Amino acid sequence: MQAKDIIDLDQLLPSDLKEIIQTAGVIKENPTYFTDHCHGNIMATLFYEPSTRTQMSFQAAMLHLGGKLIGFDDPSNSSVSKGESLKDTVRVVSNYADLIVIRNSCEGAALAASLYARCPVINAGDGGHLHPTQTLTDLVTLSYEKGRLDNLTVGLCGDNKNGRTVHSLIKSLAKYKNNRFVLISTPALQAPKYVIDCLKAQGCAYSFSESLEESIGELDVLYMTRIQKERFANLAEYEAQKGVFVLDKQKMARAKPDLRVLHPLPRVDEITIDVDDDPRAKYFEQTEYGMYARMALIMRILEKRRREVPPKQADTHDRTCGNPRCITQLERYLPKWFDEREGKLVCRYCEYEN
Ligand code: CP
Repeated sequence: MQAKDIIDLDQLLPSDLKEIIQTAGVIKENPTYFTDHCHGNIMATLFYEPSTRTQMSFQAAMLHLGGKLIGFDDPSNSSVSKGESLKDTVRVVSNYADLIVIRNSCEGAALAASLYARCPVINAGDGGHLHPTQTLTDLVTLSYEKGRLDNLTVGLCGDNKNGRTVHSLIKSLAKYKNNRFVLISTPALQAPKYVIDCLKAQGCAYSFSESLEESIGELDVLYMTRIQKERFANLAEYEAQKGVFVLDKQKMARAKPDLRVLHPLPRVDEITIDVDDDPRAKYFEQTEYGMYARMALIMRILEKRRREVPPKQADTHDRTCGNPRCITQLERYLPKWFDEREGKLVCRYCEYEN
């Protein structure tokens, strides 16, 4: 595998992705097959934001592989609370660990961490930007629950603006043949431009919908997400959006018999609990697939571990990203990195168009 860090699932070659998905299936069928595969390795989980599934499934994955764990899940119990920068934290932790898994509320934080770590870094969610290992989880779930990753009509319903799992999943599924996307949200919570640009670039069919009831019948996969309260500027804006889309038994009655319902969880009120017993609801199985997916990823990425701090990177432009949620707003020492696309400067950390 070429990639040393997993910041975006795009970094994996299609052949690597295929192999990781297949390995996850092998692990599922043979849970003890890889016991002790990572014996002697330490994984650090640096969670600056709350998590149940991502953190624990990574930890369970490493423990199943025979490795050990360090880290924090509350930065206020670490020297972050004394003002330690991201750079210093990851540089130090990478002296202790063979692999860092990081979640942070700033967009681009995992990429920033990878510039200073002596070991591989995996993005476990960077603000509203990306969540590549959730996508890996989703791809493993779909390949086993639907039997394919192409020729699917995929509905994404809820917070398509702030849902990083939605952004990562669209970017990945857009690469498979004949997938079609129905983006179901209020106008205020539509997917960001860089995600739509990705669909256009891949030549994918897509449409927008404001009615789950009207769209559900055409879907092979329904990916529900909660409205991300923590990403709103104020409570009033959140209140205006919450509860607009709710999947319930009545809507399920309009769906195909082989629909698969996924949700990255946690759920708030967007799926009623009576849907849980419907055999088409696969969101709890999805959390188990996630552990196998992460086991397969950890095994592959530790083959490529590095021992040196990456060389210092130069600025590409003399300006600061205008996205208030970009990691460069907080960590001012970071190299100013932009790519030029269609005459615009796009921040390499958070993909915001400046
Ligand atoms: N799916 C997901 O990222 O869940 P957690 O926030 O609990 O990790």
